[in-house]
Amino acid sequence: MKRLGILISGRGSNFEAIADHIAAGEIPAEIAVVISNRPQARGLEMARGRGLNAVAIPSKGLDREIYDRMLLDELARNSVDLVCLAGFMRLLSASFIRAYPNRVLNIHPSLLPAFPGLDAQRQALEHGVKITGCTVHFVDEELDAGPIILQSAVPVLDDDTVETLSARILEQEHRIYCQAIRIVLEGRYSVTGRRVARA
Ligand code: GRF
Repeated sequence: MKRLGILISGRGSNFEAIADHIAAGEIPAEIAVVISNRPQARGLEMARGRGLNAVAIPSKGLDREIYDRMLLDELARNSVDLVCLAGFMRLLSASFIRAYPNRVLNIHPSLLPAFPGLDAQRQALEHGVKITGCTVHFVDEELDAGPIILQSAVPVLDDDTVETLSARILEQEHRIYCQAIRIVLEGRYSVTGRRVARA
């Protein structure tokens, strides 16, 4: 069984969707560890409530290389095969990415490369786009930039607020993140340059 390491910073709804899909037998993996860089993250409580191994590694004030070394040690201690960022609000260093080549995934609430970074749903509303959505991608050293595995489009409605739009995008995030994890774990893909093809 492949072992997942899930990195969070807050609410943890993507983590919960992954845990639910695993429980339903739809993702062939187990959650080896949930790590939060914020000790008060709701997702940590939810993970403990599910009886999972949940660890806080506070990042405040720590140099990126030192912090990422701590993360890598914790992931190695738990024999993690695939790292899933789920609302983890930190950029990872090159040394971290090198330790898990094509083995770190992220979910982002826009159709990348549009609206990388913080508040992607607000950026989409303020730009006036009619379609936005979410993206699951491999993580590289740049912010929200690696090869794209899956995307889902979500229409922007005239009366949308950041909250209503975010809620509709979140439903799609939960769906495509679980689907993408399954594709990667089963090795049903190939990467050529930036293009990820389904095998
Ligand atoms: C999601 O919108 C995700 O796309 C973004 O941060 C949010 C995390 O939500 N990276 P949650 O913690 O998974 O509920």
